[in-house]
Amino acid sequence: MTTSTSIIEPRQFRDVMGHLPTGVVVVAGRDHERGTPAGLVVGTFQSLSLDPPLVCFSVATSSRSWPKIRPSGFFSASVLTDGQDAVCRAMSGKQEDKFAEVDWHESADGCPQIIGAHAWIDCRTVQELEGGDHLIVIGEVRGMATGSGDPLVFHRGRLGGYREPLHA
Ligand SMILES: Cc1cc2nc3c(=O)[nH]c(=O)nc-3n(C[C@H](O)[C@H](O)[C@H](O)COP(=O)(O)O)c2cc1C
Repeated sequence: MTTSTSIIEPRQFRDVMGHLPTGVVVVAGRDHERGTPAGLVVGTFQSLSLDPPLVCFSVATSSRSWPKIRPSGFFSASVLTDGQDAVCRAMSGKQEDKFAEVDWHESADGCPQIIGAHAWIDCRTVQELEGGDHLIVIGEVRGMATGSGDPLVFHRGRLGGYREPLHA
């Protein structure tokens, strides 16, 4: 389904939606042709269903990395930790080898997990839905674990840290 509207300008859309803080997640897998790691940053990762355990994220139809990852049928999601700004920059850039300066190891499914992340979720892709200029990717969770530290947060176009709420 493609929705076209002239009512909302892209800048306004970005500005208003930028007021919604998100986590910063690296979705990664293996390039199906080369076997090399491939990945990108998403701010749209979220839980979808508890039973069965499903998660989802949106990826732009212009993404260069997702078509490389898709054919394997598996991906890993690494929730970045406060301080992993450089990982975010590398994974949201356009360079050929995004993993050159990034510490990672392999999941049981052969997908790259970012070392030092705040949490990891290993998934099998079960569905892709069209959503305008993005695809909604649904993954079945096959494994998950937590790390340490606080999450990296994206808000109003900037990366920042999470502050413990003062209200108890
Ligand atoms: C904080 C943050 C959140 C992002 N969220 C998304 C997202 O949810 N979906 C998406 O497709 N791109 C998102 N991006 C942009 C991609 O990471 C960026 O376009 C990247 O270059 C895509 O890489 P690729 O072309 O190798 O797939 C985000 C970038 C940042 C910095």
